[in-house]
Amino acid sequence: MSQKIALITGASRGLGKNAALKLAAKGVDIILTWRSKGQEAQEVVQQINASGARAVAIQLDTGDSKTFSVFVNEVRQQLTTRWQRDSFDYLLNNAGTALHQDFATTSEEQFDEMVNVHFKGPFFLTQKLLPLMVNGGRILNVSSGLARFSLPGSSAYASVKGAIEVLTRYQAKELGVRGITANVLAPGAIETDFSDGRVRDNPQVNASVASMTALGRPGLPDDIGDVVALLLSDESHWINGQRIEASGGMAL
Ligand SMILES: NC(=O)c1ccc[n+]([C@@H]2O[C@H](COP(=O)([O-])OP(=O)(O)OC[C@H]3O[C@@H](n4cnc5c(N)ncnc54)[C@H](OP(=O)(O)O)[C@@H]3O)[C@@H](O)[C@H]2O)c1
Repeated sequence: MSQKIALITGASRGLGKNAALKLAAKGVDIILTWRSKGQEAQEVVQQINASGARAVAIQLDTGDSKTFSVFVNEVRQQLTTRWQRDSFDYLLNNAGTALHQDFATTSEEQFDEMVNVHFKGPFFLTQKLLPLMVNGGRILNVSSGLARFSLPGSSAYASVKGAIEVLTRYQAKELGVRGITANVLAPGAIETDFSDGRVRDNPQVNASVASMTALGRPGLPDDIGDVVALLLSDESHWINGQRIEASGGMAL
């Protein structure tokens, strides 16, 4: 089996970091990205290197598509110098920020940021990375349970997550000719820094999520990292064009 390389956006902390560590533990090498937390990203790189897999961190703002060509060149260069390859295997479009704002008061600036970071960014980043993806590679986009169930204050965020779910089906349809699969992972509410850590740190929110979850608690980063490693394993190669929700059974 050849060495696999995963490119994970937003892996300086949270779900991306956990996914990076879980994949590395299975022997997958990692190209991870960070936006503001360079030191944390380097610590993830060190953790992965110490575990025996190889990793490198590159800065990326998924909300700024004008920078993508430079980023893709950097990825190409890292592949050549560190791996003596011109391709990678798995792409996890994970990076993102939260927005809690009622529909009635959501500003155009807030809306544009959600579209740019969560939809336009992954759309054109993936497009530009396609020449570097192996035939038979995998795309895994990160959505949210909120694209299925509706909680107040998430109209812009959840709408762009819905858009990435539709895009995923089209990616699967059009990239199948290259043997590339595309799936979308929709986590429920998870205890990370996301949205100022409100699921983790706000007791009311935490209890509310627990009460609407069949397994009786919010998710932890480990819950999602395990699913990412599962969906990016050889055994799941026939899953394609699917939305997989990992929420412990939230809002069933
Ligand atoms: N946590 C949840 O409850 C939950 C539920 C459903 C879906 N999700 C989705 O899961 C993904 C990860 O969330 P998380 O909980 O891990 O969040 P997090 O702990 O806040 O981490 C966010 C990560 O994304 C990076 N990032 C943020 N904005 C970026 C941008 N504009 N360009 C590039 N990178 C950016 C951050 O980089 P820096 O640290 O370097 O700034 C960080 O690595 C997001 O797409 C989110 O929508 C989360």
